Amino acid sequence: MKLALAPMQDVTDLAFMRTLHRIGSLPDVFITAYFRSTPTTCALAEHNLRCIDENETGVPVLAQLAGSEAPALLRDAAMLLARPGVAGINLNAGCPSPLVNRHGAGAGLLRDFSRFADILLQLRAHIPAGQFSVKCRLGWEDAAADFPRILDCLAAATPDETGIHARTRKQLYGGSPDFSYIRSAVQHLACPVLANGDINTPEQAHHCLQFTGAAGLMLGRGAVRNPYLFRQLRGGPAPTPDEMQQYYAILIEETGRVFLHQRTEKGHCNRMKKYLAFCYPDFSPEQEYALRRCTSIAEMQRLLASPATYTGNNCGENAAAPI
Ligand SMILES: Cc1cc2nc3c(=O)[nH]c(=O)nc-3n(C[C@H](O)[C@H](O)[C@H](O)COP(=O)(O)O)c2cc1C
Repeated sequence: MKLALAPMQDVTDLAFMRTLHRIGSLPDVFITAYFRSTPTTCALAEHNLRCIDENETGVPVLAQLAGSEAPALLRDAAMLLARPGVAGINLNAGCPSPLVNRHGAGAGLLRDFSRFADILLQLRAHIPAGQFSVKCRLGWEDAAADFPRILDCLAAATPDETGIHARTRKQLYGGSPDFSYIRSAVQHLACPVLANGDINTPEQAHHCLQFTGAAGLMLGRGAVRNPYLFRQLRGGPAPTPDEMQQYYAILIEETGRVFLHQRTEKGHCNRMKKYLAFCYPDFSPEQEYALRRCTSIAEMQRLLASPATYTGNNCGENAAAPI
């Protein structure tokens, strides 16, 4: 079973990658948040580049590109592959941002199948074997109509791996993911398929793998809330409340290490809130209220270290059998 950390802009960043390393719960691969590729430029966002250039975890990193013009994507894929830290290129065919979709990129690629097919074939032709992967959704708004066509495009282009977020663009992050489409992808594609969408516990992971036959999983929000999920999926124990507090403490430290030279203390707190947004269900409403308004790191440390209100919903006694 292969485990990937799903890319999340401003969340699965260098600080989070280093935190996973320090707590000893690592995926097999990281994927950067997307670099926006346009005919005029590739926006080489510094925080994304740092995930590549300063990755000390030993885990390979794929650079993700979001674009809708084949020449620009080829140019930027070559430029990123020339960086020593890049293990491969991942094409984003899932981002639902209107800003990105307006230009036909991200999930916008799933509205124009001849363009999508052409981009996939061109990237395949130029990216070395083993280094080209795709991350897509089930379609723009109608999975039953769109997904078979997406599978045809992918089958023709033979990417080395495909990650599928089992929702349409119309669903954004709501509704339920439909893993039956991932099962059909596993049956139709020659490459390994990674399942993605609302896989937050070992039980859900186990069920998804059994149901879909996927080669692995891509975990996003669930891994931010419980970063020990990778360890658990390799047969390790569920985190104790102490370990969860250690996670928050290390994340504060690593966020400081990565960003502090650019940020005020309030900025450091705001950066922490990007991760905590996915952890609030494990705190009492009073604690969440205080954390959301917190502007002092000492106060945030105090709030996060307080075991009294820690609920451990997703952790502790809910340990599952290894997968
Ligand atoms: C804040 C946020 C940022 C995201 N940024 C990206 C991104 O840059 N590239 C991408 O392919 N997906 C991105 N995603 C989608 C996730 O990779 C993933 O597909 C989605 O969250 C569903 O998986 P999950 O339920 O495990 O979180 C983002 C999701 C969130 C919530």
